[in-house]
Amino acid sequence: MLRKEQNDLLTQTGPGTPMGELFRHYWIPALLAEELPENECPPVRVKLLSERLLAFRDTEGRYGLIDEFCAHRGVSLWFGRNEESGLRCPYHGWKYDVTGQCLDVPSEPAESGFCKKVKLKSYPLMKIGDILWTYMGERDDEPPHPEWEFALVPPEQTFTSKRWQECNWLQALEGGIDSSHVSFLHRGNLNSDPLFKGAKGNQYNLNDPRPVFEVVEQPGGLYIGARRNAEGGRYYWRITPWVMPSFTMVPPRGSHPLHGHFWIPIDDENCWTWSFDYHPARALTPAERQAMIDGKGVHVRYMPGTFRPLANKDNDYLMDRAAQKAGITYSGVDGIAVQDASLQESMGPIVDRTKENLVSTDNGIIMARHRLMRAARALREKGVVPPGVDPTHHRVRSAAVVLPPEQSFKDAAKDDLIVRPGVAPTSV
Ligand code: FES
Ligand SMILES: [Fe+2]
Repeated sequence: MLRKEQNDLLTQTGPGTPMGELFRHYWIPALLAEELPENECPPVRVKLLSERLLAFRDTEGRYGLIDEFCAHRGVSLWFGRNEESGLRCPYHGWKYDVTGQCLDVPSEPAESGFCKKVKLKSYPLMKIGDILWTYMGERDDEPPHPEWEFALVPPEQTFTSKRWQECNWLQALEGGIDSSHVSFLHRGNLNSDPLFKGAKGNQYNLNDPRPVFEVVEQPGGLYIGARRNAEGGRYYWRITPWVMPSFTMVPPRGSHPLHGHFWIPIDDENCWTWSFDYHPARALTPAERQAMIDGKGVHVRYMPGTFRPLANKDNDYLMDRAAQKAGITYSGVDGIAVQDASLQESMGPIVDRTKENLVSTDNGIIMARHRLMRAARALREKGVVPPGVDPTHHRVRSAAVVLPPEQSFKDAAKDDLIVRPGVAPTSV
């Protein structure tokens, strides 16, 4: 349970808020690279951390993320003409480059130099892997580029999607570090989803609904271990790394690709759920890639032409009561990602954490909240760079292992929880 002011601190990420300042210290995913597929392609509206921005790719292929609105009289530059190394407002022809610098005010005499004094807010936009990343903080504090393994492996080994989620970022993240719901909410999919089925670990998940949590502090965040009974008195451990502010990786199953998420605030009542799948040691098979495109595993199917899931709150997530009753799905909603989204959105745009009743399986969530609050305060009061900014903190992996009872996961699985380029994940 949190006090109201703690809940506000954690959930508000607009300009000037403590958590907003924290988020503005990281390189965060802004849009899929495929959304700006070629030079001079149409610009894309991007809302992040409650700021309305516009992404575009100019004649030379440079990426820019600038204020959505024209400095003259506030027209949305989404209507702009992307031409000759800049974006021209269609109202009176003012033109901007990828840094937001105004290049031309055609109604003014060129020799007046007026346009040099006009500059829109802008942020860097940079392609790594399938993602265009941005950094929305002060230029002087810009950190080194991110080094997440899924974004650095060759393109044939990785797949990334994003979906609009209609709730605050934190309750979505909290679903990602809550390994206990898998034995309930997702139980119908573990043995049927093409990206999950067939793993021995699935049986441990299904047979033991009372995981014991052990959470270990890390320089960049936490390792959250969930222990379930295996045979012969041994334990099945599922270990989820969380790197601040909102990166997680789901523990692997069998020889399937690894997957994970980022949750990035659009505003305080909406977020982007970024979902990736990759294999560190091999190309994804055509069947795996097709399953991801078809919305299996952690991905979804979309309303055509949007990033909104086809099953969404306006159609009750295509609830199927017969499937719920028959146990085909536990909640009646189909698909792992939509199961998560439906319940997290059902809590309301920002869940009231003054009213919750936490139990021991919520330990990872409790520790993550405290870590976030501590980091936001340390940043605001003492300027301390938050955990997870340093790219060495990005080199983590999830793992699933069976261990004898006397072994702690943090020692026994130490090497499995860090990136080892080209080495397959440790999985059961
Ligand atoms: S509003 Fe953009 S040029 Fe006038
Ligand atoms: Fe889930």
